[in-house]
Amino acid sequence: MKLLSSLILRFVCLTLVAAGSIGGLAVAGDKTFTSDGPDAIWRSIFARPTDAGTPALEAQRVALGAALFSDTRLSRDGDRSCASCHQPDKGYSDGLPKARGRDGTSLKRNTPHLYNLAPATSFYWDGREPTLESQARVPLHAANELAADPSQLLARLSADMDLRRQFAAAFPNETEMSEAALLSVLAAYEKSLVSPKTAFDAWVTGDDDALSDEEKRGFRIFVGKGGCVSCHGGWRMTDDGFHDIGLETDDPGRSAVPGGAAGIPAFKTPGLRQVARTAPYMHNGSLATLDDVVAHYAGKHVSRPSLAPSLVRDLKLDAEERAALVAFLKTL
Ligand code: HEC
Ligand code: HEC
Repeated sequence: MKLLSSLILRFVCLTLVAAGSIGGLAVAGDKTFTSDGPDAIWRSIFARPTDAGTPALEAQRVALGAALFSDTRLSRDGDRSCASCHQPDKGYSDGLPKARGRDGTSLKRNTPHLYNLAPATSFYWDGREPTLESQARVPLHAANELAADPSQLLARLSADMDLRRQFAAAFPNETEMSEAALLSVLAAYEKSLVSPKTAFDAWVTGDDDALSDEEKRGFRIFVGKGGCVSCHGGWRMTDDGFHDIGLETDDPGRSAVPGGAAGIPAFKTPGLRQVARTAPYMHNGSLATLDDVVAHYAGKHVSRPSLAPSLVRDLKLDAEERAALVAFLKTL
């Protein structure tokens, strides 16, 4: 089903991009947006699902996960938490090119944001973890991250009567606090991190004036000649796929993970919601600003055979077009 819908999205995108470039339709041309025709289709592509609400028990787990996400008792030294690197005021990233580890050295990669991960099925830049629960276990124990002491962690948390009560309420069928329950509340909290609605969502739901003319020109490049939509489509603005977009890197990425294609330094397409808050960008934090990102796509990428087929090879954007694309990205 997921594959089918992503194939349909790809087909619609390619058709619209082609129509735009051949026929000069609103997508690629300079005309104003209308609420029917191609705009209606773009709006449906970027529309959010309706919110089904959170059941009470799940809400308790989310609240507990929220508290533990920033609880330094999860770390061996009692001085750091998930939120030390995934900082809420920086879109759950940390503002650094690469994350800083417990011993002060850099980790191998940039700290990604944590928005809209509930529907995702692979985690990390190389997608090596299949669930948020299995992922959370890694930083919890990694020597250079939280380095939790397995023999102490649960004892330390269980000594807090208030926390015990909250766990008992969130897991009525369990008698003891367990690591599995701890990981599941962290995951429940992460699944609740839906990016806030923005001007772009207002435009998607029909408010033609929600975006400025410049931002609309940027959107037209995003879904038109820039080809961005072929990987950053849908309301989360990611295809959940892995691609080589031609960054200078010595990181093997997905190719070092079972299931990855040998020799292709592919990385997970990050969702672009709240992207203005999560600089610097890319798996290695090598692009400092959104202007740098746009310059990368518009001619600065490395050419090599493993480049993603859907990446526009010879994209040319003048200064005005670049500024418009950046202005659009800031509406997300
Ligand atoms: C020292 C900094 C640091 C700490 C502490 C940390 N993270 Fe991360 N986190 C990172 C980095 C760096 C990555 C990307 C690593 C990679 O892709 O190889 C990451 C990736 C992730 C991802 C994958 C996101 C995606 O889009 O695939 C999730 C989820 C996550 N962390 C959750 C957590 C949780 C939960 C905790 C606490 C138990 C935590 N992190 C603690 C730095 C940190
Ligand atoms: C072939 C698929 C593909 C296309 C086309 C594509 N992207 Fe990306 N994008 C990616 C992948 C994969 C990454 C992460 C690459 C990495 O870190 O190695 C990324 C990263 C980004 C980031 C950084 C986000 C972050 O959190 O670090 C931005 C911003 C971005 N793309 C914007 C764009 C724009 C604008 C366009 C069109 C000009 C575009 N992308 C076209 C796949 C694509």
